[in-house]
Amino acid sequence: MDKKVHELLNAQINKELYSAYLYLDFSNYFKAAGLDGFANWYMIQAQEERDHAMLFYTYLQNENVTVTLEAVAKPDKVFNSHMDVLLAGLEHEKYVTSLINDIYGAAYDVRDFRTMQFLDWFVKEQGEEETNANDLISKMELFGSDPKSLYMLNQELAGRVYSAPSLVL
Ligand code: FEO
Repeated sequence: MDKKVHELLNAQINKELYSAYLYLDFSNYFKAAGLDGFANWYMIQAQEERDHAMLFYTYLQNENVTVTLEAVAKPDKVFNSHMDVLLAGLEHEKYVTSLINDIYGAAYDVRDFRTMQFLDWFVKEQGEEETNANDLISKMELFGSDPKSLYMLNQELAGRVYSAPSLVL
């Protein structure tokens, strides 16, 4: 495997684990705020991010290249409102999309078609992740300022259930 592609794929394990850690922090924020539905939504998001990390980890192992695990950074965002958390989520997903695009670009440059095919799932997934984050912001804009509506939205988010990724390696 090309050195740069290898480095970027390996670094993505850490980025996805950081994403899991970040969303765990979001979940913790909402739990403390008494919004268990929002806490559930981000807890499941955290589980999905761990799955993403494992997909990169397994892909590298399957390709017989080295996996190196680095320290996961501390989530250090301070939030002044519930909306701040949601906006930080969207911002983060856009950043992750840029990372996936960077890896794709590096794989494309060296005609690493297998890595490109592996990444196709993530390209689609990032579209869904950004849509989900945007939808949540729209709902919060509509309903967040009214306590009864916020309660209903919280109930809706309590219904999110975990499902394993559709990509299996
Ligand atoms: Fe693993 Fe939310 O992207």
